[in-house]
Amino acid sequence: MVSRVIPVDDFDLVIFGGTGDLARRKILPGLFRRFMAGQMPASSRIIGAARSELDQDGYQKEVAKALEEFLPKDARPKDQVTAFLETLDYVAIDAMGEGGWDTLSKKLRPDVIRAFYFSVAPSLFGALAERLHGHACAGPSCRIVVEKPFGRDLASAKELNKTLRDHFDERQIYRIDHYLGKETVQNLMAVRFGNVLFEPLWNAQHVDHVQITVSESVGVDGRGAYYDKSGAMRDMVQNHLMQLLCLTAMEPPSRFDPDAVRDEKLKVIRALDPVDPDDIVRGQYTSPEKGKGYLEQVEDPNSRTESFIAMKIAVSNWRWAGVPFYLRTGKRLKARNSEIAIVFKEVPHSIFDQDEARHRNVLTIRLQPNEGMDLSVTIKEPGPGGMRLVDVPLDMSFAEALGPDAEDVPDAYERLIMDVIRGNQTLFMRGDEVEAAWAWTDPLIKGWTERGDRPVTYETGSTGPEEAAMLLHREGRRWREIKP
Ligand code: BG6
Repeated sequence: MVSRVIPVDDFDLVIFGGTGDLARRKILPGLFRRFMAGQMPASSRIIGAARSELDQDGYQKEVAKALEEFLPKDARPKDQVTAFLETLDYVAIDAMGEGGWDTLSKKLRPDVIRAFYFSVAPSLFGALAERLHGHACAGPSCRIVVEKPFGRDLASAKELNKTLRDHFDERQIYRIDHYLGKETVQNLMAVRFGNVLFEPLWNAQHVDHVQITVSESVGVDGRGAYYDKSGAMRDMVQNHLMQLLCLTAMEPPSRFDPDAVRDEKLKVIRALDPVDPDDIVRGQYTSPEKGKGYLEQVEDPNSRTESFIAMKIAVSNWRWAGVPFYLRTGKRLKARNSEIAIVFKEVPHSIFDQDEARHRNVLTIRLQPNEGMDLSVTIKEPGPGGMRLVDVPLDMSFAEALGPDAEDVPDAYERLIMDVIRGNQTLFMRGDEVEAAWAWTDPLIKGWTERGDRPVTYETGSTGPEEAAMLLHREGRRWREIKP
């Protein structure tokens, strides 16, 4: 298969927070990979902007170090690194003051695409937006990119939206949820809407339930201060898992265009019922190793923040009435393993007398590791001895099916940044979507906070608390295995 990389138009990209962790770990290595793939025109420029007093040369050296740290040696040929570094410039800027803004304004070229990446604390968004306009850096065709967390509740998300919309049109605002940039997540749309096979079955008549799992083996480690104020609900469910749920449950959009897709996702969020407290399990990991338990990794030894959450959600519409969506995500679990599983109903009547087992087709969309899909089908167990049935996977690993092309799949950030330059908002969250997600999330968090609920504990390396298993057991179902 021949890889088709379509170069984007010439651009100036300013990264506010250009020396920060996200820029070093994800944004710059991602841009370098797109540069290597020939997608980023050599004339394009990336301008780091931060408080540090660096010059262009100093910034290039910083970025060279970041590439060394975050990319394997064979992924950064020297000549390519040198050419990429030449696209970099730097401005020392004072986000809250006036220093550096005129310099930035002079560096920006007319007539090329202009994008500003706000990789800074949300409290600075307003100041940055104001100064971009005040110093004639922002025009009607420029774009801004903002990171999560987009607020910590509905009120703060509304406030952030207002701050940004005071200065930019919604079509200029790109709210990143990096899960939408993952290859398999987009494949979910291709599978649903590019095939006739699945869509007729994709409803309450044929689907028994849906499981969405995002399991991580890492803990909160160095991020305790941030994480303890968020917890799994704010850090993962309100955004990433919500997006997965939307793409799984939404109606077919009329076109693959930003508003058509986002309108359908919004309808799903608005159709979510409030969740009964009995349908939520919150957990905190413990560890026999000193210093590795959740409570030892955050400041507050009595913290009630959850590092794991499992819940049963109802999507109240014609398509999904009565079909539970089970979501779970947590840190320090058995393995890094994320998937969406559509578990279909059993056949209405089994003609095979000897078969007592329950057979269900399951379509699994694997996000990580080993991106791909499998569909388990029921067949006859080989050999004599009657009609015994067995479930086997019809496996499709992207790596196997697509060969080397699959290995060169851009990582989520790379793809999303290129979409910003192309001006394609399909994989970015619209302001009303984010607000609707908070409107559903807020009462749940308020409920457990007011009740003073304490998370239950689970062991590091396990599949989560026993109570989460019970959530499904009591309904005659069980979670899919979390496999290393
Ligand atoms: C981030 C969360 O948004 O996503 C982290 O803040 C989490 O807590 C991360 O670890 C997971 O992303 P990925 O791509 O590794 O699944």
